[in-house]
Amino acid sequence: MVDVLVGLQWGDEGKGKIVDVLAPRYQIVARFQGGPNAGHTLEFNGHKHVLHQIPSGIFRENVLNVIGNGVVLDPVILRQEIDKLAAIGVDATRNLVISKRAQLILPSHKLVDKASEESLGDDKIGSTLKGIGPTYQDKTGRVGLRVGDILLPDFDQRYREAVARHRALIAFHGATIDEAQLHLLEEAFFSATDFLRTLRLADTELLLNDAITDGKRILAEGAQGSLLDVDFGTYPFVTSSTTLSAGACTGLGVAPRRIADVIGVFKAYCTRVGSGPFPTELHGDEGERLRRLGHEFGSTTGRPRRCGWLDLPLLRYAAMLNGVSELCMMKADVLDEFATVPVCTAHPVESGAALTFAEQPGWLHTTRDIDTFSALPEPLQAYTKFIENATALPISIVSVGPDRRSTLLVK
Ligand code: GDP
Ligand code: IMO
Ligand code: MG
Repeated sequence: MVDVLVGLQWGDEGKGKIVDVLAPRYQIVARFQGGPNAGHTLEFNGHKHVLHQIPSGIFRENVLNVIGNGVVLDPVILRQEIDKLAAIGVDATRNLVISKRAQLILPSHKLVDKASEESLGDDKIGSTLKGIGPTYQDKTGRVGLRVGDILLPDFDQRYREAVARHRALIAFHGATIDEAQLHLLEEAFFSATDFLRTLRLADTELLLNDAITDGKRILAEGAQGSLLDVDFGTYPFVTSSTTLSAGACTGLGVAPRRIADVIGVFKAYCTRVGSGPFPTELHGDEGERLRRLGHEFGSTTGRPRRCGWLDLPLLRYAAMLNGVSELCMMKADVLDEFATVPVCTAHPVESGAALTFAEQPGWLHTTRDIDTFSALPEPLQAYTKFIENATALPISIVSVGPDRRSTLLVK
Protein backbone atom coordinates (compact mmCIF):
# COMPACT_ATOMS: atom_id res chain seq x y z
CA MET A 1 0.00 0.00 0.00
CA VAL A 2 0.91 3.64 -0.33
CA ASP A 3 0.88 6.11 2.54
CA VAL A 4 0.94 9.75 1.49
CA LEU A 5 2.66 12.50 3.47
CA VAL A 6 1.59 16.06 2.72
CA GLY A 7 2.08 19.56 4.08
CA LEU A 8 -1.11 21.15 5.43
CA GLN A 9 -0.07 24.82 5.25
CA TRP A 10 1.94 26.89 2.75
CA GLY A 11 4.96 24.58 2.54
CA ASP A 12 8.07 24.18 4.72
CA GLU A 13 6.11 22.40 7.44
CA GLY A 14 8.97 19.93 7.98
CA LYS A 15 7.91 17.23 5.50
CA GLY A 16 11.48 16.25 4.64
CA LYS A 17 12.38 15.64 8.28
CA ILE A 18 9.38 13.37 8.84
CA VAL A 19 9.91 11.43 5.60
CA ASP A 20 13.50 10.77 6.71
CA VAL A 21 12.31 9.66 10.15
CA LEU A 22 9.57 7.35 8.80
CA ALA A 23 11.50 6.01 5.77
CA PRO A 24 12.89 2.90 7.56
CA ARG A 25 9.29 1.66 7.83
CA TYR A 26 9.01 1.67 4.01
CA GLN A 27 10.76 0.02 1.06
CA ILE A 28 10.15 2.93 -1.31
CA VAL A 29 9.90 6.72 -0.94
CA ALA A 30 8.44 8.50 -3.98
CA ARG A 31 8.04 12.17 -4.92
CA PHE A 32 4.85 12.73 -6.93
CA GLN A 33 4.70 16.43 -7.81
CA GLY A 34 6.58 19.71 -7.77
CA GLY A 35 10.24 20.08 -8.54
CA PRO A 36 13.22 22.03 -7.23
CA ASN A 37 10.90 24.71 -5.87
CA ALA A 38 10.87 22.31 -2.90
CA GLY A 39 13.56 22.48 -0.23
CA HIS A 40 13.33 19.59 2.22
CA THR A 41 15.71 19.77 5.17
CA LEU A 42 17.05 16.76 7.07
CA GLU A 43 19.38 16.85 10.06
CA PHE A 44 21.28 14.03 11.72
CA ASN A 45 24.77 13.37 13.13
CA GLY A 46 25.35 17.10 13.35
CA HIS A 47 24.86 17.64 9.61
CA LYS A 48 22.11 19.42 7.71
CA HIS A 49 21.08 18.37 4.20
CA VAL A 50 18.66 20.23 1.92
CA LEU A 51 17.05 18.18 -0.87
CA HIS A 52 15.28 19.77 -3.83
CA GLN A 53 14.74 16.98 -6.35
CA ILE A 54 15.81 13.80 -4.60
CA PRO A 55 13.28 12.13 -2.27
CA SER A 56 14.01 12.34 1.45
CA GLY A 57 14.51 8.58 1.84
CA ILE A 58 17.92 8.82 0.17
CA PHE A 59 19.92 8.52 3.41
CA ARG A 60 18.28 5.22 4.36
CA GLU A 61 20.21 2.13 3.23
CA ASN A 62 17.44 -0.13 2.03
CA VAL A 63 15.00 2.40 0.67
CA LEU A 64 14.47 2.88 -3.05
CA ASN A 65 13.80 6.52 -4.01
CA VAL A 66 11.52 7.25 -6.94
CA ILE A 67 11.03 10.52 -8.81
CA GLY A 68 7.54 10.01 -10.20
CA ASN A 69 5.86 11.07 -13.44
CA GLY A 70 4.11 14.02 -11.74
CA VAL A 71 7.41 15.70 -10.91
CA VAL A 72 9.09 18.42 -13.00
CA LEU A 73 12.80 17.63 -13.14
CA ASP A 74 15.70 20.03 -13.52
CA PRO A 75 18.61 17.79 -14.59
CA VAL A 76 21.17 20.45 -13.62
CA ILE A 77 19.89 20.69 -10.06
CA LEU A 78 19.54 16.90 -9.84
CA ARG A 79 23.17 16.44 -10.84
CA GLN A 80 24.36 19.09 -8.38
CA GLU A 81 22.46 17.30 -5.64
CA ILE A 82 23.90 13.90 -6.57
CA ASP A 83 27.43 15.40 -6.64
CA LYS A 84 26.93 17.01 -3.26
CA LEU A 85 25.82 13.71 -1.77
CA ALA A 86 28.76 11.90 -3.39
CA ALA A 87 31.11 14.38 -1.73
CA ILE A 88 29.91 13.17 1.68
CA GLY A 89 30.10 9.52 0.70
CA VAL A 90 26.44 8.93 -0.23
CA ASP A 91 25.97 7.30 -3.64
CA ALA A 92 22.48 8.50 -4.54
CA THR A 93 22.58 6.80 -7.95
CA ARG A 94 22.50 3.41 -6.20
CA ASN A 95 18.88 3.65 -5.04
CA LEU A 96 17.28 6.27 -7.28
CA VAL A 97 14.84 5.64 -10.14
CA ILE A 98 13.35 8.37 -12.33
CA SER A 99 10.12 8.18 -14.30
CA LYS A 100 10.53 8.53 -18.05
CA ARG A 101 7.28 10.49 -17.95
CA ALA A 102 8.52 13.21 -15.60
CA GLN A 103 8.62 16.59 -17.34
CA LEU A 104 11.96 18.27 -18.02
CA ILE A 105 12.60 21.81 -16.82
CA LEU A 106 14.53 23.52 -19.60
CA PRO A 107 16.79 26.56 -19.12
CA SER A 108 14.30 28.68 -21.05
CA HIS A 109 11.49 27.67 -18.65
CA LYS A 110 13.39 29.52 -15.94
CA LEU A 111 13.72 32.59 -18.14
CA VAL A 112 9.97 32.49 -18.91
CA ASP A 113 9.25 32.20 -15.17
CA LYS A 114 11.34 35.32 -14.52
CA ALA A 115 9.84 37.31 -17.41
CA SER A 116 6.32 36.35 -16.33
CA GLU A 117 6.93 37.39 -12.72
CA GLU A 118 8.49 40.70 -13.80
CA SER A 119 5.53 41.47 -16.05
CA LEU A 120 3.14 40.97 -13.12
CA GLY A 121 4.86 43.71 -11.09
CA ASP A 122 3.23 44.10 -7.67
CA ASP A 123 0.86 41.22 -8.46
CA LYS A 124 3.71 38.72 -8.83
CA ILE A 125 3.24 35.22 -7.38
CA GLY A 126 6.62 35.29 -5.64
CA SER A 127 7.64 32.17 -7.55
CA THR A 128 10.90 30.43 -6.71
CA LEU A 129 11.98 31.19 -10.33
CA LYS A 130 12.87 27.52 -10.87
CA GLY A 131 10.70 27.31 -14.00
CA ILE A 132 7.94 25.30 -12.32
CA GLY A 133 4.87 27.14 -13.71
CA PRO A 134 6.09 27.30 -17.34
CA THR A 135 7.07 23.60 -17.28
CA TYR A 136 3.61 22.52 -16.04
CA GLN A 137 2.04 24.87 -18.63
CA ASP A 138 3.91 23.01 -21.37
CA LYS A 139 2.86 19.68 -19.84
CA THR A 140 -0.86 20.46 -19.90
CA GLY A 141 -0.40 22.25 -23.23
CA ARG A 142 0.95 18.91 -24.51
CA VAL A 143 4.18 20.36 -25.82
CA GLY A 144 6.49 19.53 -22.90
CA LEU A 145 9.66 17.45 -23.10
CA ARG A 146 9.82 14.43 -20.85
CA VAL A 147 12.76 12.61 -19.28
CA GLY A 148 12.27 9.70 -21.71
CA ASP A 149 12.68 12.08 -24.64
CA ILE A 150 16.40 12.44 -23.92
CA LEU A 151 16.76 8.90 -25.31
CA LEU A 152 15.29 9.90 -28.71
CA PRO A 153 17.56 10.69 -31.67
CA ASP A 154 15.73 13.97 -32.37
CA PHE A 155 15.91 15.29 -28.78
CA ASP A 156 18.03 18.30 -29.83
CA GLN A 157 15.49 19.27 -32.49
CA ARG A 158 12.60 19.02 -29.99
CA TYR A 159 14.62 21.09 -27.56
CA ARG A 160 15.16 23.82 -30.15
CA GLU A 161 11.44 23.93 -30.97
CA ALA A 162 10.65 24.38 -27.29
CA VAL A 163 13.16 27.21 -26.94
CA ALA A 164 11.65 28.95 -29.98
CA ARG A 165 8.24 28.90 -28.28
CA HIS A 166 9.74 30.19 -25.06
CA ARG A 167 11.46 33.04 -26.91
CA ALA A 168 8.08 34.19 -28.19
CA LEU A 169 6.63 34.00 -24.67
CA ILE A 170 9.49 36.00 -23.19
CA ALA A 171 8.98 38.65 -25.87
CA PHE A 172 5.25 38.63 -25.09
CA HIS A 173 6.11 39.44 -21.46
CA GLY A 174 8.13 42.39 -22.74
CA ALA A 175 11.51 40.96 -21.76
CA THR A 176 14.61 40.13 -23.77
CA ILE A 177 16.82 37.08 -23.44
CA ASP A 178 20.37 37.52 -22.24
CA GLU A 179 21.90 35.29 -24.93
CA ALA A 180 25.18 34.80 -23.09
CA GLN A 181 23.30 33.67 -19.99
CA LEU A 182 21.11 31.29 -22.01
CA HIS A 183 24.19 29.83 -23.67
CA LEU A 184 25.77 29.07 -20.29
CA LEU A 185 22.53 27.55 -18.98
CA GLU A 186 22.26 25.39 -22.12
CA GLU A 187 25.79 24.07 -21.74
CA ALA A 188 25.02 23.01 -18.20
CA PHE A 189 21.68 21.53 -19.32
CA PHE A 190 23.12 19.36 -22.09
CA SER A 191 25.94 18.17 -19.88
CA ALA A 192 23.35 17.27 -17.21
CA THR A 193 21.11 15.42 -19.68
CA ASP A 194 24.17 13.36 -20.73
CA PHE A 195 24.55 12.47 -17.07
CA LEU A 196 20.80 11.78 -16.77
CA ARG A 197 21.10 9.12 -19.49
CA THR A 198 23.43 7.17 -17.19
CA LEU A 199 20.85 7.01 -14.39
CA ARG A 200 18.06 4.47 -13.93
CA LEU A 201 15.13 5.75 -16.02
CA ALA A 202 12.00 3.61 -15.93
CA ASP A 203 8.26 3.29 -16.26
CA THR A 204 7.96 3.87 -12.53
CA GLU A 205 4.19 3.30 -12.52
CA LEU A 206 4.90 -0.36 -13.32
CA LEU A 207 7.66 -0.61 -10.75
CA LEU A 208 5.46 0.94 -8.04
CA ASN A 209 2.38 -1.15 -8.77
CA ASP A 210 4.46 -4.35 -8.88
CA ALA A 211 5.97 -3.37 -5.54
CA ILE A 212 2.51 -2.88 -4.03
CA THR A 213 1.37 -6.23 -5.38
CA ASP A 214 4.45 -7.79 -3.73
CA GLY A 215 3.33 -6.37 -0.39
CA LYS A 216 5.92 -3.59 -0.23
CA ARG A 217 5.23 -0.35 1.58
CA ILE A 218 5.57 2.97 -0.23
CA LEU A 219 5.68 6.46 1.25
CA ALA A 220 4.63 9.20 -1.19
CA GLU A 221 6.41 12.45 -0.28
CA GLY A 222 4.45 15.60 -0.99
CA ALA A 223 6.11 18.90 -1.79
CA GLN A 224 4.79 22.43 -1.17
CA GLY A 225 1.63 22.55 0.94
CA SER A 226 -2.13 22.17 0.67
CA LEU A 227 -2.73 25.93 0.62
CA LEU A 228 -0.45 26.16 -2.44
CA ASP A 229 -2.52 23.56 -4.32
CA VAL A 230 -3.41 24.72 -7.83
CA ASP A 231 -7.15 24.10 -7.28
CA PHE A 232 -7.77 24.60 -3.56
CA GLY A 233 -4.94 26.89 -2.52
CA THR A 234 -4.98 30.66 -2.39
CA TYR A 235 -5.27 30.94 -6.19
CA PRO A 236 -3.59 32.54 -8.10
CA PHE A 237 -0.90 32.67 -5.38
CA VAL A 238 -0.26 28.94 -5.60
CA THR A 239 2.13 26.53 -7.24
CA SER A 240 1.23 24.73 -10.47
CA SER A 241 0.62 21.19 -9.24
CA THR A 242 -1.81 19.15 -7.13
CA THR A 243 -0.10 19.19 -3.77
CA LEU A 244 -2.90 17.24 -2.07
CA SER A 245 -2.86 13.50 -1.35
CA ALA A 246 -4.96 12.99 -4.51
CA GLY A 247 -1.92 14.12 -6.50
CA ALA A 248 -0.09 10.96 -5.44
CA CYS A 249 -2.45 8.88 -7.62
CA THR A 250 -1.87 10.79 -10.84
CA GLY A 251 1.70 11.71 -9.95
CA LEU A 252 2.78 8.10 -9.44
CA GLY A 253 0.24 6.10 -11.42
CA VAL A 254 -1.32 4.35 -8.41
CA ALA A 255 -5.05 3.90 -8.05
CA PRO A 256 -7.00 5.48 -5.16
CA ARG A 257 -7.75 2.02 -3.74
CA ARG A 258 -4.04 1.52 -3.14
CA ILE A 259 -3.71 4.55 -0.87
CA ALA A 260 -3.84 3.72 2.84
CA ASP A 261 -2.90 6.41 5.38
CA VAL A 262 -2.52 10.13 4.79
CA ILE A 263 -0.04 11.80 7.11
CA GLY A 264 -0.57 15.56 7.44
CA VAL A 265 2.38 17.67 8.58
CA PHE A 266 1.85 21.13 10.07
CA LYS A 267 3.84 23.67 12.07
CA ALA A 268 2.65 24.65 15.56
CA TYR A 269 2.29 28.13 13.98
CA CYS A 270 2.18 29.24 10.32
CA THR A 271 4.61 30.51 7.71
CA ARG A 272 4.37 31.49 4.09
CA VAL A 273 7.02 32.51 1.57
CA GLY A 274 5.96 34.41 -1.55
CA SER A 275 2.86 36.54 -2.11
CA GLY A 276 -0.78 35.89 -1.30
CA PRO A 277 -3.30 35.87 1.55
CA PHE A 278 -2.19 34.85 5.04
CA PRO A 279 -5.00 35.64 7.53
CA THR A 280 -3.04 35.11 10.77
CA GLU A 281 0.16 36.83 9.59
CA LEU A 282 1.97 38.89 12.25
CA HIS A 283 3.54 42.08 10.97
CA GLY A 284 5.19 43.40 14.11
CA ASP A 285 7.63 42.20 16.75
CA GLU A 286 5.90 38.87 17.36
CA GLY A 287 6.25 37.87 13.71
CA GLU A 288 9.90 38.90 13.84
CA ARG A 289 10.34 36.83 16.99
CA LEU A 290 8.82 33.71 15.38
CA ARG A 291 11.07 34.22 12.34
CA ARG A 292 14.17 34.51 14.50
CA LEU A 293 13.36 31.60 16.85
CA GLY A 294 12.18 29.35 13.99
CA HIS A 295 15.01 30.36 11.61
CA GLU A 296 12.28 31.04 9.09
CA PHE A 297 14.25 31.70 5.94
CA GLY A 298 13.51 29.74 2.75
CA SER A 299 15.50 26.53 2.16
CA THR A 300 15.38 27.10 -1.62
CA THR A 301 15.58 30.88 -2.05
CA GLY A 302 16.79 32.14 1.35
CA ARG A 303 13.88 34.62 1.45
CA PRO A 304 12.54 35.52 4.92
CA ARG A 305 9.32 33.60 5.55
CA ARG A 306 6.21 35.49 6.65
CA CYS A 307 5.13 34.23 10.10
CA GLY A 308 1.85 34.05 12.01
CA TRP A 309 -0.21 31.99 14.43
CA LEU A 310 -1.77 28.60 13.77
CA ASP A 311 -4.99 28.84 11.75
CA LEU A 312 -7.39 26.04 12.77
CA PRO A 313 -10.13 26.64 10.16
CA LEU A 314 -7.50 26.40 7.40
CA LEU A 315 -5.92 23.35 9.06
CA ARG A 316 -9.33 21.62 9.14
CA TYR A 317 -9.93 22.58 5.50
CA ALA A 318 -6.56 21.12 4.45
CA ALA A 319 -7.16 17.96 6.52
CA MET A 320 -10.53 17.53 4.83
CA LEU A 321 -9.15 17.95 1.30
CA ASN A 322 -6.39 15.41 1.94
CA GLY A 323 -8.38 12.90 3.97
CA VAL A 324 -5.72 13.11 6.67
CA SER A 325 -5.64 10.12 9.02
CA GLU A 326 -2.94 11.38 11.40
CA LEU A 327 -1.11 14.61 12.11
CA CYS A 328 2.51 15.51 12.82
CA MET A 329 3.03 18.78 14.68
CA MET A 330 6.38 20.40 13.90
CA LYS A 331 8.55 23.06 15.49
CA ALA A 332 6.74 23.09 18.84
CA ASP A 333 10.09 24.15 20.38
CA VAL A 334 9.88 27.47 18.53
CA LEU A 335 7.03 28.43 20.89
CA ASP A 336 9.05 27.58 24.04
CA GLU A 337 9.55 31.24 24.98
CA PHE A 338 5.99 32.52 24.44
CA ALA A 339 3.90 33.11 27.59
CA THR A 340 0.68 32.64 25.62
CA VAL A 341 0.11 31.07 22.20
CA PRO A 342 -2.85 32.49 20.27
CA VAL A 343 -4.58 30.11 17.85
CA CYS A 344 -7.11 31.28 15.27
CA THR A 345 -10.38 29.43 15.82
CA ALA A 346 -12.73 31.22 13.42
CA HIS A 347 -12.75 33.40 10.33
CA PRO A 348 -15.82 35.65 10.67
CA VAL A 349 -18.10 35.60 7.67
CA GLU A 350 -18.26 39.38 7.16
CA SER A 351 -15.15 40.45 5.33
CA GLY A 352 -13.06 42.88 7.28
CA ALA A 353 -14.18 41.56 10.68
CA ALA A 354 -11.41 40.49 13.04
CA LEU A 355 -10.36 36.84 13.33
CA THR A 356 -11.26 35.01 16.53
CA PHE A 357 -8.34 33.71 18.60
CA ALA A 358 -8.14 31.34 21.56
CA GLU A 359 -5.19 32.15 23.82
CA GLN A 360 -3.47 28.93 24.84
CA PRO A 361 -1.13 28.96 27.86
CA GLY A 362 2.54 28.82 26.88
CA TRP A 363 4.98 26.41 28.57
CA LEU A 364 8.04 28.68 29.01
CA HIS A 365 10.30 25.66 29.11
CA THR A 366 13.02 24.36 26.79
CA THR A 367 11.76 21.28 24.94
CA ARG A 368 14.77 20.60 22.71
CA ASP A 369 16.34 17.84 24.82
CA ILE A 370 13.13 16.13 25.86
CA ASP A 371 12.90 12.66 24.34
CA THR A 372 9.45 11.36 25.23
CA PHE A 373 6.03 12.90 24.70
CA SER A 374 4.95 12.31 28.31
CA ALA A 375 7.96 14.32 29.53
CA LEU A 376 6.87 17.44 27.62
CA PRO A 377 5.64 20.37 29.71
CA GLU A 378 1.98 19.95 30.58
CA PRO A 379 0.80 23.08 28.66
CA LEU A 380 2.42 21.73 25.47
CA GLN A 381 0.66 18.39 25.94
CA ALA A 382 -2.56 20.38 26.43
CA TYR A 383 -1.82 22.39 23.24
CA THR A 384 -1.52 19.09 21.38
CA LYS A 385 -4.81 17.87 22.85
CA PHE A 386 -6.50 21.17 21.95
CA ILE A 387 -5.52 20.73 18.28
CA GLU A 388 -6.56 17.07 18.29
CA ASN A 389 -9.99 18.08 19.59
CA ALA A 390 -10.33 20.95 17.12
CA THR A 391 -9.44 18.77 14.12
CA ALA A 392 -10.90 15.47 15.38
CA LEU A 393 -7.61 13.86 14.33
CA PRO A 394 -4.84 12.17 16.31
CA ILE A 395 -1.39 13.78 16.50
CA SER A 396 1.09 10.92 16.17
CA ILE A 397 4.33 12.92 16.21
CA VAL A 398 5.40 16.10 17.98
CA SER A 399 8.71 17.52 16.74
CA VAL A 400 10.84 19.68 19.05
CA GLY A 401 13.95 20.31 16.98
CA PRO A 402 15.38 19.91 13.48
CA ASP A 403 17.37 16.78 14.32
CA ARG A 404 16.06 13.29 13.59
CA ARG A 405 16.22 12.52 17.31
CA SER A 406 13.98 15.44 18.31
CA THR A 407 10.93 13.54 17.11
CA LEU A 408 8.52 12.39 19.81
CA LEU A 409 6.05 9.62 19.09
CA VAL A 410 2.75 10.21 20.84
CA LYS A 411 1.43 7.11 22.73
P1 GDP B 1 9.77 21.02 4.19
O1 GDP B 1 9.88 21.82 2.94
O2 GDP B 1 8.36 20.78 4.60
O3 GDP B 1 10.57 19.74 4.16
O4 GDP B 1 10.40 21.93 5.35
P2 GDP B 1 11.77 22.80 5.24
O5 GDP B 1 12.92 21.88 5.37
O6 GDP B 1 11.74 23.71 4.08
O7 GDP B 1 11.61 23.74 6.50
C1 GDP B 1 11.53 23.23 7.78
C2 GDP B 1 12.69 23.82 8.59
O8 GDP B 1 12.46 23.62 9.97
C3 GDP B 1 14.02 23.17 8.31
O9 GDP B 1 15.04 24.11 8.48
C4 GDP B 1 14.09 22.07 9.35
O10 GDP B 1 15.43 21.72 9.69
C5 GDP B 1 13.45 22.75 10.51
N1 GDP B 1 12.72 21.88 11.43
C6 GDP B 1 12.00 20.76 11.17
N2 GDP B 1 11.39 20.31 12.28
C7 GDP B 1 11.73 21.16 13.26
C8 GDP B 1 11.40 21.26 14.65
O11 GDP B 1 10.65 20.47 15.20
N3 GDP B 1 11.94 22.31 15.34
C9 GDP B 1 12.76 23.21 14.78
N4 GDP B 1 13.23 24.20 15.53
N5 GDP B 1 13.10 23.15 13.48
C10 GDP B 1 12.58 22.15 12.74
P1 IMO C 1 8.47 22.84 0.07
O1 IMO C 1 8.31 21.51 -0.60
C1 IMO C 1 7.19 26.99 0.46
C2 IMO C 1 5.75 28.97 -3.18
C3 IMO C 1 6.58 30.09 -3.74
C4 IMO C 1 5.51 30.93 -4.37
C5 IMO C 1 4.53 29.90 -4.92
C6 IMO C 1 4.74 29.57 -6.39
O2 IMO C 1 9.87 23.12 0.50
O3 IMO C 1 7.48 23.00 1.17
P2 IMO C 1 6.57 28.21 -7.73
O4 IMO C 1 8.07 28.36 -7.78
O5 IMO C 1 6.13 26.87 -7.25
O6 IMO C 1 5.91 28.61 -9.00
O7 IMO C 1 6.10 29.30 -6.63
O8 IMO C 1 4.74 28.74 -4.14
N1 IMO C 1 6.48 27.69 -2.98
C7 IMO C 1 6.84 27.21 -1.79
N2 IMO C 1 6.74 27.75 -0.55
N3 IMO C 1 7.70 25.75 0.31
C8 IMO C 1 7.79 25.18 -0.91
O9 IMO C 1 8.17 23.91 -1.10
C9 IMO C 1 7.38 25.94 -2.04
N4 IMO C 1 7.35 25.71 -3.37
C10 IMO C 1 6.78 26.78 -3.92
O10 IMO C 1 7.28 30.77 -2.73
O11 IMO C 1 4.82 31.66 -3.37
MG1 MG D 1 10.82 23.55 2.23
